Amino acid sequence: KRVVVLISGRGSNMKALIEAARNPAYPAQIVGVISNRSNAAGLDFAARAGIPTRVITKSDHPDSASQDAALERALTEFGAELICLAGYMRLLTQSFVSHWSGRMINIHPSLLPLFKGLHPHQQALDAGVRLHGCSVHFVTFEMDSGPIIAQAAVPVLSGDTEDSLSARTLAAEHKLYPLALQLLAEGKVRMDGDKAVFRTAES
Ligand code: GRF
Repeated sequence: KRVVVLISGRGSNMKALIEAARNPAYPAQIVGVISNRSNAAGLDFAARAGIPTRVITKSDHPDSASQDAALERALTEFGAELICLAGYMRLLTQSFVSHWSGRMINIHPSLLPLFKGLHPHQQALDAGVRLHGCSVHFVTFEMDSGPIIAQAAVPVLSGDTEDSLSARTLAAEHKLYPLALQLLAEGKVRMDGDKAVFRTAES
């Protein structure tokens, strides 16, 4: 499957996907990376890895609909079949989200449905949970709310700070995201309404 990754910054999850996809047995290829910020560090890594990149910013587009239209054009050029959001810090329009429904996934660093939105690690520390983690989910219009495909847990340790907890969680993200994309690319999971449905040996 041809996959395009959307980023806004560091791109460490994008890098994990690119590295997983280097294995010829992996069922997805990363055919393009698109950022909404021209200075996203992840763009350099992608370019060095020989992956074509595009920058589609808000400042070049008067409104969200035209920004998403530009995104659609780039996705068509790349021949994208699936989209992975990886730290893409911008809300997509409803029509874009519905067009890619079941074919677009996101990673969020919390055990959803807990701690949606910004600063999930600080939210976890504030809530006093002893277990935290990350989730890969299908993207629906409501942020961080689509059907969950896979999750990984990490402990919250005494003395943890937002930085230490986010570093531990990020290491789990880098393993989880390639696994979840693999499930989707192999057709082992699909979105059915508000649930992720998994193919079993019989089904
Ligand atoms: C990750 O923690 C991801 O889960 C969240 O934003 C962060 C992006 O980091 N959505 P990176 O750009 O992948 O390094």
